[in-house]
Amino acid sequence: MTPRFDDSSFTVAIVGCGGFIGSHLLDAVLERTRWRVFGVDLDFYRLQHRLNHERCEFLCADLADPAVVERIAQFPLVVNLAAICTPSRYMGEACEVIRSNYDHPAALAEACAKSGAWLVHFSTSEIYGKTAADSGELVEDSTPAVFGPVTASRWSYATAKLLAERFIAGLPGLRWTVVRPFNFVGPYMDFMPGVDGEGIPRVLANFSTALLRGEPLKLVNGGKAKRCFTSVHDAIDFLFALFDAGLGCALSFGVGDSPDAGCKTAAGAGHSGRDAVGVSKVGAAPNAGVSKVGAAPNAGVFSQAFNVGNAENEVSIAELAQKMRTIFAKVRGVDVSSLPEPQSVSGEEYYGAGYDDSMRRMPSVAKAERLLGFRARIPLDTALEESLSWFVKHYDVAETCHCEEP
Ligand code: UGA
Repeated sequence: MTPRFDDSSFTVAIVGCGGFIGSHLLDAVLERTRWRVFGVDLDFYRLQHRLNHERCEFLCADLADPAVVERIAQFPLVVNLAAICTPSRYMGEACEVIRSNYDHPAALAEACAKSGAWLVHFSTSEIYGKTAADSGELVEDSTPAVFGPVTASRWSYATAKLLAERFIAGLPGLRWTVVRPFNFVGPYMDFMPGVDGEGIPRVLANFSTALLRGEPLKLVNGGKAKRCFTSVHDAIDFLFALFDAGLGCALSFGVGDSPDAGCKTAAGAGHSGRDAVGVSKVGAAPNAGVSKVGAAPNAGVFSQAFNVGNAENEVSIAELAQKMRTIFAKVRGVDVSSLPEPQSVSGEEYYGAGYDDSMRRMPSVAKAERLLGFRARIPLDTALEESLSWFVKHYDVAETCHCEEP
């Protein structure tokens, strides 16, 4: 454990800690550090095993409450994962989607700018917009974004997320990092419709549900769109690389300093000698342990957006369906030919009016590698098998016993 993870007086606030990514992050923080966690969410069912943990304090609330926002911002490191990110909701509930993905994060960002907290904000790969089938790598600081028309309300989510990024980037004094996830998958992803959620979850949970129920997998518009699915464990490793590098700077900045003060160069340059308000000391020596990150330790950890994805895991949705059928047959010990064949369905028919799609989302992963020494490593088949096996085990029980929500 590096010294900065060994500090038992340090607290990270995780907003959306009860969600898919949040629950993995919470587990990892408790396992890999001695930090305390202030966890905020409206739903804690994924965290039953952690509710009485001595290093956790949980608050059942959302960011609509200004007092909650103020309280969260008092912690030195704030990770905001809270969002409505169920695609079927982008069509019918555009205003709610925009409030959740713009208004609330903007209020939190303003509070963090005042308190001096480091805000790690989860955005989305969807901010690259309506990418075409022949679009190339999406590069954080140079790829332009094109969105569908206002009648295509699918883009309500992406445009709200993009505006939140721009607001965060424009706020004077805010120390921020934006994360753009590329189709994270893993245990606890989304929900099973009719069991612990309503609507249409993301493709992995949808396909898993259909396989468990013996129904055909639905290929929207033939399943030609491509995605790079990324294991949630890689995503957590990215966050730890980020924390390690960013907290190496925390000793060397104070509120009112430029957000990059102390981090433009390696080896403690810019040490202000002051503590940031609300920022605990996090390690014995400035930049200790930072040498294991990329070529220029700490440079550019703040005021940066990072793609987090696995460029080697690209697959079309039709190919994904076949992979998942094969894995399911193996997990269940049945012949794949006994499973129903996938069926094509139009986007409007499946999701409703206003659906639109990105045809290819290939991350450039160079920046995370260059600045943090991070590269996703879990292959697609491993990630899919872990996710599907978890889904089968978790929901088979719920399906057969008609249990209450866990
Ligand atoms: C979704 C969300 O909109 C984003 O919030 C989020 O950033 C992203 O997932 C992510 O997980 O990173 P999308 O990539 O379109 O965006 O994810 P899915 O809803 O899982 O859809 C992926 C593709 O599968 C789309 O082309 C969709 O039309 C297709 N699909 C989905 C099917 O063919 N069948 C299904 O049953 C579900």
